[in-house]
Amino acid sequence: MSAQIIDGKAFAAALRERVAGVAASFEAAAGRKAGLAVVLVGEDPASQVYVRNKHKQTIACGMESFEHKLPAETSEANLLALVEQLNADPAVDGILVQLPLPSHMDEQKVIATINPDKDVDGFHVVNVGRLATGARGFVPCTPLGCVMLLKDKLGSLSGLDAVVIGRSNIVGKPMAQLLLAESCTVTVAHSRTKDLPGVVRRADIVVAAVGRPEMVKGDWLKPGATVIDVGINRVPAAEEGKTRLVGDVDFASASDVAGAITPVPGGVGPMTIAVLLRNTIVAAHRNAG
Ligand code: GUN
Repeated sequence: MSAQIIDGKAFAAALRERVAGVAASFEAAAGRKAGLAVVLVGEDPASQVYVRNKHKQTIACGMESFEHKLPAETSEANLLALVEQLNADPAVDGILVQLPLPSHMDEQKVIATINPDKDVDGFHVVNVGRLATGARGFVPCTPLGCVMLLKDKLGSLSGLDAVVIGRSNIVGKPMAQLLLAESCTVTVAHSRTKDLPGVVRRADIVVAAVGRPEMVKGDWLKPGATVIDVGINRVPAAEEGKTRLVGDVDFASASDVAGAITPVPGGVGPMTIAVLLRNTIVAAHRNAG
């Protein structure tokens, strides 16, 4: 292995420390803690784990955590009413509705109901438009965390060739916008891209966010490339009945060719909640001021 390991866990811990400092000053000035409301509908096990971690880390950063758990059969109207109530609540600076929602709900409609200035996920079309036009808004947490790791490792990204594999609203598309804003030359690749290895081989920066275990191989990479692996895939382990987490990048072969690479776990994963807390304290300041 020749690649440097990008330690997202350590970066996220340092970011949370900084957020905690800002949260303490906010509390001293405003006479109240900054507040994050998280809404979970149903019992999806992965979502329950995320929400529990968000709750713990919000409290640990000195902010208020408001959890709202609704049964899977809740009507969309009930959920929309809760979002409206949180929009109107001055103790709530940030609102996050955990996705995916049950299939009888229209996710876009629910997101559209969140006040864009409390939309700390950056999913509201107003924030999507702000990101696309360079206006001040909220940026989705996972891609913003990826850019923080890239700038920490590389300094300026200006003029670099970046390939984003994946075109989701949560990661791929905002990632491409952020890299463009950093003056990268950006290619967005996806399942229909022709000669994906050839496209990836041109890139100084590769961001893999496709949800396909270990898809990106070392011989797809330009030597020295910086590789950001957003994938979190559970696959069977060598030991019978056990599973292990892998990314969208084949770490063993990629780490022989890349200049720097994020591991899974311990790379991008811990950044998402740390950036969410950062967005929440930013929202608190903006909404108070
Ligand atoms: N589900 C998986 N990741 C996320 C996220 O970043 N935000 C929300 N709201 N739901 C998610």
